Amino acid sequence: MLKAVILIGGPSKGTRFRPLSLDVPKPLFPVAGLPVVQHHIDACYRLGQQRNSNPQDDSKSNVRKYCVAEVLLLGYYADDELADFLLTATQSYPSLRIRYLREPGALGTAGGLYHFRDTILAPLGNSDGSEGEQVQAFFVMNGDVCADFPLDEMLDMHFSNNSLQSQHQQKQPVLITVMATETTRQQSVHYGCMVVDKETNIIQHYVEKPSTFVSNTVNCGVYLCSPRLFDTIAEIHLEMSNSNGNGTQQHTTRYTSSNKNNINQQQQQKPTEERVAAAMVMWMEQDVLRRLAGESGSGCSSGGDGGSRIKKDAVCSGVALAATTRNWWSQLKTAGAAIYANRHYLALRQQRQRLLQRESIDLPLPSPVKCRLATSDPKGGYSTIGNVYVHPSAQVHPTALLGPNVSVGEGACIDQGVRIKESIVLQDAVIGQHSLVMHSIIGRRAKVGAWCRVEGSAACSDPNPNVAYAKMTPQLPLFNALDGRLNPSITILGCGVNVESEVVLLNSIVLPYKTLTRSYKNEIIL
Ligand code: GDD
Ligand code: GTP
Repeated sequence: MLKAVILIGGPSKGTRFRPLSLDVPKPLFPVAGLPVVQHHIDACYRLGQQRNSNPQDDSKSNVRKYCVAEVLLLGYYADDELADFLLTATQSYPSLRIRYLREPGALGTAGGLYHFRDTILAPLGNSDGSEGEQVQAFFVMNGDVCADFPLDEMLDMHFSNNSLQSQHQQKQPVLITVMATETTRQQSVHYGCMVVDKETNIIQHYVEKPSTFVSNTVNCGVYLCSPRLFDTIAEIHLEMSNSNGNGTQQHTTRYTSSNKNNINQQQQQKPTEERVAAAMVMWMEQDVLRRLAGESGSGCSSGGDGGSRIKKDAVCSGVALAATTRNWWSQLKTAGAAIYANRHYLALRQQRQRLLQRESIDLPLPSPVKCRLATSDPKGGYSTIGNVYVHPSAQVHPTALLGPNVSVGEGACIDQGVRIKESIVLQDAVIGQHSLVMHSIIGRRAKVGAWCRVEGSAACSDPNPNVAYAKMTPQLPLFNALDGRLNPSITILGCGVNVESEVVLLNSIVLPYKTLTRSYKNEIIL
């Protein structure tokens, strides 16, 4: 049995996504009609469906039995911020158990995992009250990445470790398989960089956001971990607590997979404040991956500027593999990235819909009506070009033309003669007669009057199509250093913005609840 942990962070993060994240946590921002993290959940759900739908295929028999049974969202948002989402997600995926684990504070990308290790490794009880299957492995997914997640390939690589061991006399178990992709030399330094042995896929060297070029192969922020990874994290925890001067107490409660039941019992008995105090900020990248890289017998990683706080001569315990993919992958750091992700998630859905139709596979898609793409209605409905998603409760006038790459949210209202392309229109937004919306995000309950033009720059941070392996530009400066004006960007209307009729709004960001009575270009309207 598998589990998946999605790291969703908390309210103190993601400033680059404002103002869109001011009224909804970034992980719940809708892209292609689904909250960002629902795409992660969907990928986990489909993994089980695909494997079950093809029982004749024995080629993957060693892994077919592994299905994700539980998804844990890990972050430090208040519980009520996620309550509605959890309810609808649970209804959409009845076969999955979906829960939110709230960290006592920002514990980093590995600190929260370690804090909740007993929950992550706990078997799911059967309905008859007996103890269920053990957790064989668990996915860890950064909540702010969007991708055609190659979970199947990661599973195959992770679990085919035995044949790998015999071929290459590699003695150590695989503790973690990291989804990796190639970028350009210039862009690589914005990500975790890995030097990977081409034959064995073992990560030999890992540096998080290096200051100079290390490798074109970068960490996508999606991992498949063995339960024994917690032994390594426990070592790190121990070393860090020793160096912080409270090692004695940690020695008595040291965690290993063999004594985990005792430790967990001891931990449960402790008062909550004590458990919280023992929680420590740890990073999957700087602390865990950097330590595992190079532990395949060639000695631990040397030098680099990854900022690890862990000794390099630490005991070697296992290896990390890189599963390099050419599937689409992107970070979701800025609002511009949401338009890019929208385009790709819509295209993926289109591909899947076609495949299912062609092969007549009857996959129980979650909320099927909600997820289907819209098409031009020959009986006098609105027209579409390319991939368009319209929520069933949205009202679109028959004379409107939508697409390509448009998502229209719940309860939105698109009036007659409206033209929308490459945009996201959020819940309950209204677009007045004959207005044009392009390369823009229209916030919740925002209202655009009649004969307006709301336009952003055609995805200026999109990957350069002429450069192989190029990714979105992650660090475009917001302002031009020369004239202090906004650099070309998509146009964003915050929640509740009111744009009066006949206004032209170009490359601008409008903060929530503003009323615009005149036209603007390249400005942030506060
Ligand atoms: N639960 C929890 N607690 N989640 C966290 C915390 C925390 O304290 N801090 C960050 N996260 C979540 C964020 O919400 C995000 O989804 C993910 O962890 C990574 O966040 P960052 O720390 O901002 O890292 P990054 O996105 O700049 O870089 C990471 O991802 C890149 C790929 O997108 C690294 O893993 C890079 O190596 C990698 O290339
Ligand atoms: P920046 O450099 O400030 O963008 O930080 P970062 O890139 O390190 O942040 P990251 O994008 O990794 O953080 C993403 C997390 O912060 C996500 O889980 C978001 O849900 C959350 N987040 C971002 N902005 C807000 C916000 O304004 N409100 C809330 N509630 N959550 C937010």
